[in-house]
Amino acid sequence: MPLQIDLRSAVLALSDALDLVGVNDFQHGKRVAMIARESATLLGLPQARLDNLVCACLLHDVGVSSTVMHRQLVHDIESGDGRAHCARGYELLLPFAHLSLLANAIRHHHTPWPELPADLDEADALDSNLILLADRVDSLLLRQGIENPLAHREGICGEIAALAGRELAPDVARAFLGAAASAAFWIALGPRHVQPYLNELPLSSWRITIDFPQFRHVARLVSSIVDAKSHFTAAHSLGVAQLSRHLGTRLGLAADALAQVEIAGLMHDVGKLCVPDEIIEKPAHLTRLEFSVMERHSFETYQILRHIPGLETIAEWAAFHHEALNGRGYPFRHAGERLSLESRIVAVADVFQALAQERPYRGPQPAEEIPRVLERFVANEILDRDVVAVASEDLEASWLAATRPL
Ligand SMILES: [Fe+2]
Ligand SMILES: [Fe+2]
Ligand SMILES: [Fe+2]
Repeated sequence: MPLQIDLRSAVLALSDALDLVGVNDFQHGKRVAMIARESATLLGLPQARLDNLVCACLLHDVGVSSTVMHRQLVHDIESGDGRAHCARGYELLLPFAHLSLLANAIRHHHTPWPELPADLDEADALDSNLILLADRVDSLLLRQGIENPLAHREGICGEIAALAGRELAPDVARAFLGAAASAAFWIALGPRHVQPYLNELPLSSWRITIDFPQFRHVARLVSSIVDAKSHFTAAHSLGVAQLSRHLGTRLGLAADALAQVEIAGLMHDVGKLCVPDEIIEKPAHLTRLEFSVMERHSFETYQILRHIPGLETIAEWAAFHHEALNGRGYPFRHAGERLSLESRIVAVADVFQALAQERPYRGPQPAEEIPRVLERFVANEILDRDVVAVASEDLEASWLAATRPL
């Protein structure tokens, strides 16, 4: 059956993925959404505007895949890469029909109010300044400690009041101070209350069913974020997706399954956003402790994708790429009978593409070498024999699909 996905759940899943980049500063985008929305409500914005603002806040750091950059940005908003991640976020969102609505606000979310371009749409200008406000507040909160936000109310309100008319529009600062007057505002920012707050928002204007080609855009967006994490993994997800489609075609999958296995390839490593850069880029084999962090990634992929209604099966194909036929893979130790042909295809494509790429601890493997390595995985009952045979038979086509995706 062709894929039909609700855009609201896709945006919430995307925000869960971006949350992972925080590693320890979990839920940054979500708190920014709460702070901005509660302030904007006092400005009397209509519901649809509030919905767009929430989505823009959830995705405001879409240009940040690196855990190091994220740490700099949330702990010291003035350092980090300045505004480069804003421009990158804008470029990532602009090509996608609905998400492009949010692009301008995200582009200017580090631009002080007096410096906003004169030709910027009024709504985008206000939204960008509300994100800047909320980003500031959360950065201050993280510096003080997120366990008891109410304890830091006076200090933070003082700092925000001082920014009125400078970084912040006077109305925006005033609205925040109004919202921040209640204790509930601060208590709700605590770790236990953030997710329920968002779950209860209807975001009605984002409850739109998107079809497969549109959802493929979202999956491409996810793959760009993941692949931007390190130059070692640039275009990895895209290559895995292309190769999965190629292998699926050779193995006779139907058109819908081919489209879906490609999506699984694009999103299979979304959980890697939670792995610190130092581990991804380590120029040596990982210690047990580091590997235990790395091992989390396919579990996180599963948790993010399976919560998108309609994506439950694709979530399995994507998240089982480190499972092994002998039942000794991770994270679930599922054995062969639980691993569908599509899961096996993504697993082979993942190993093939990774071998074809440079890694911090080794150079790229030459194409001729790859079938030999894959055979060892077959002999050890990790990868599927038939899928590996198809990948090796027409090595040049597999290599091209994995390394030069369209
Ligand atoms: Fe931020
Ligand atoms: Fe992986
Ligand atoms: Fe991978």
